Amino acid sequence: MNLDNYLSTWEEKIRNTVGKEQVLLATSGGVDSSVCAALLSKAVPGQLNCVFVDHGFMRLGESDEIEAAFANKPVRFICVNGEERFLAKIKGISDPETKRKLIGEEFIHVFEEEAKKLGHIPFLAQGTISLDVIESSSEHGAPIKSHHNVGGLPERMDFTGIIEPLSGLVKEEVRVLGKMLGLPASLVNRQPFPGPGLAIRVIGEVTKAKLDTLRQADAILRNELDTLEERPDQYFAVLTDTCAVGVKNDTRTFDPVIAIRAVNTVDFMHCDYTPLPHHVLKRVSERITGEISAVSRVVYDITSKPPGTIEWE
Ligand code: XMP
Repeated sequence: MNLDNYLSTWEEKIRNTVGKEQVLLATSGGVDSSVCAALLSKAVPGQLNCVFVDHGFMRLGESDEIEAAFANKPVRFICVNGEERFLAKIKGISDPETKRKLIGEEFIHVFEEEAKKLGHIPFLAQGTISLDVIESSSEHGAPIKSHHNVGGLPERMDFTGIIEPLSGLVKEEVRVLGKMLGLPASLVNRQPFPGPGLAIRVIGEVTKAKLDTLRQADAILRNELDTLEERPDQYFAVLTDTCAVGVKNDTRTFDPVIAIRAVNTVDFMHCDYTPLPHHVLKRVSERITGEISAVSRVVYDITSKPPGTIEWE
C-alpha cells in the first residue's frame, strides 16, 4: 500500500463528499480515532468536530495527552469530563458485563448530548479499520458507508453520510499514517485499551479511590516497561478485590493486591504471557509497594489465552 497515494486520494474524496459541511467524530484517544481525526483535519480544516468523552477511567495523564495532541490542529476538540456521572452510573456494580453495558449506554447519552449542542452536523466520521469492516466489501474504499455502524450511533442519529477513511488499512499502516500526519509517537504506538477503560481493571465495585490507586500502579508499570527494548504487546496493572497482610514501617497492613499482566500476541484472540525478566518484575513490585501506600503486594499473572482472557474482567 502506497500511503502517500492513499492519503491524497482520501483527502480529495473527503473534500468532495463534505463540501463546506461539518463532520463529527467520537474520539477515544485510541490510535484509530486519533489518526482518523488527524486525516480529516488535514482534508477539511476547520470543519471537524471531535468529541472526546472522558469517562474518568483513563490512565494517568492520558486525557491531557489526547487533548494536547489536537491542540495545534484545525479541529474543534470538545473534551467532556464525565467522571462523576460515569462513576454514579456504575456505583455498586460488580458484574463485568453489566459494567460494560452501563458504560456503553452512558457513552452514547453523553455523546448525543454534546452533538446536539453543536447543532445539526450532516457527516459522521469513524476510525473503522479493515479488520472492523464486517459487511460487504463492494463499497470498500468509498467515502460514505451507511450500512456499517459502531456503537449504535448512526442509527440513532440522523446523518447524511458516514466517512471511514481508514477502512482500507491494517493497524500497522494506520500507525505509519498517523506519524505521517504528525501525531506523537506516544499516541500512534499506543497499545490497545478497552473502551470501558480502567473500570474493567478494578475488580468488583469501582470507586474513585480504587481508580487512583490503579492509575498509580499502572503508571509505574508502564514507566518501567516502556524502556524495554522488546516490549510486550499489551501490559497493564489490575487492582484485585483481594487484600493481603503486609508489613510497612514495622506496622501490620491489610491492603489490596495488584496483579501485573503482560502478554505477547499477534491477534489478541490468543496470547502467551510474557516471560518478563525477574529483575524487571522485582523493580516493578518494589516501586508499586514502596510508592503506593494502599497496596500490600504485587503478583504476576502467568496465564495464557486460552484459557485466560487478556483482561481480568
Ligand atoms: P480479552 O480480555 O477478551 O481481550 O482477551 C482481547 C482484547 O480486547 C480488549 N478488550 C476490549 N476492548 N472493549 C474494548 O474496546 C471491551 O470491553 C474490551 N474487553 C477487552 C483487550 O484489552 C484486548 O486487547
